[in-house]
Amino acid sequence: MSINTTKTRQLFNQAKQYIPYGVNSNFRYWGDEETPIMTRGAGAYVWDADDNRFIDYRLGFGPIILGHAHPEVNRRVAAAIQNGVLFAATTPIEIELAERFTRMTGMDKVRLSNTGTEANMHALRIARAYTGREKFIKFEGNYHGNFDYVMFSGPTAKAELLGPRSHPHRLRATEGMPVAIRNYMISLPYNDIDLLERAMVEHSDELAAVVLEPIMGNVACILPDLAWLRRVRQLCDEFGVVLIFDEVKTGFRLAKGGAQEYFGVKADLAAYAKAMGNGFPVSAVAGREEVMAVVEPGRVAHGGTYCGNVVAATAAAATLEIIETQPVIETIFANGRQLMAGIDAILSRAGVPHVVTGVPSMFSVLLGKDEPPTDYRSYSEFDAEMFGRLGAELIHRGILVDDDPREPWFMSASHDAAVIDESLNLIEDAVTAVFGRRVRPQRLAA
Ligand SMILES: Cc1ncc(COP(=O)(O)O)c(C=O)c1O
Repeated sequence: MSINTTKTRQLFNQAKQYIPYGVNSNFRYWGDEETPIMTRGAGAYVWDADDNRFIDYRLGFGPIILGHAHPEVNRRVAAAIQNGVLFAATTPIEIELAERFTRMTGMDKVRLSNTGTEANMHALRIARAYTGREKFIKFEGNYHGNFDYVMFSGPTAKAELLGPRSHPHRLRATEGMPVAIRNYMISLPYNDIDLLERAMVEHSDELAAVVLEPIMGNVACILPDLAWLRRVRQLCDEFGVVLIFDEVKTGFRLAKGGAQEYFGVKADLAAYAKAMGNGFPVSAVAGREEVMAVVEPGRVAHGGTYCGNVVAATAAAATLEIIETQPVIETIFANGRQLMAGIDAILSRAGVPHVVTGVPSMFSVLLGKDEPPTDYRSYSEFDAEMFGRLGAELIHRGILVDDDPREPWFMSASHDAAVIDESLNLIEDAVTAVFGRRVRPQRLAA
């Protein structure tokens, strides 16, 4: 099945003349024939340049928690900007936001910035300043943004090059990084208590932080083993190491208090972004009073021209108010549960080995095996190419997912029961187109 993309292709060719690969972020390039160009969004839907309508499960890589062009968030931002957007001074809306943010997350103090990258960068610096140490532990397949210190063995690493589990290689995610900064990080497989204990003992005097995604939001929503997560917390306490949760994808999406509330494990510092602004660029580093206290003029730098700007702060204040006072997360979980169960049933009926991983507000569909992955290495045993074929059929039928199974399917509060029903019908068609109808074994004649 194919759709008309004449206008999209024309625009994409024009884009390539001025923008490398026609996109402003490498992850958005899907190939010369497939890269989409979007023109508008409303609720659960987006439209491309040819006016094809899609049910959007990418949601801008996760931020759109309420739905596209949310009327109340937009109304408040539009009203606020009439009075100016940037003052290089604190504004009342930042104070209102900080009060709500700390109440919802349970963190003592918060500083705003603009992207998830910035928030993680600041978290790492704060942890180093607080401990007076320089190294950190990071887990294979975890992504913490586009800054050099953390860009090793992330979600784009070739699993076959990761080396032995007990002594993983630290694979650079990009050229242009100084090789030597590899020495600041220790790479470990996710969910492995023994290897973590060994590394903490071995490096205890030089470790500033353990940084982790509390769900592997960039590799198929692999869940943490709770015993592992609790052990990470204990070990950080034992060795005086700062535990940083990267809640850029999980914050305000798993629960009002993010992954920390959902799993009942508290971090010392956490980075937030995505869902806190419903698509407006805003992020935050937040943490325990004692740790955040190192952020002090003349001591630990934190700042940026646009940190806490009126657009970002107003959008976040409106989004968090809605999440706090309305059953946003409950609604998303109820509908997401239906969608996950429906996809599972469709693939089971078609006889396709699969697992649906993650939680109802962000989950992934993996094909080719039926045992849940526990880390990046076990994820790589699934058949990404098989999912790619299904992804292409889904997209052509109006279900917008990433054709890379590492990237989650995200849910918003606008994905209501009718949208889920419509989705499941289209998903069933796509599964049949790719895998055919299951041929039931004939009964042998007696
Ligand atoms: C877990 C996680 N951390 C950090 C980032 C970086 O955020 P940003 O793209 O806003 O810099 C991302 C982006 O997808 C992410 O998923």
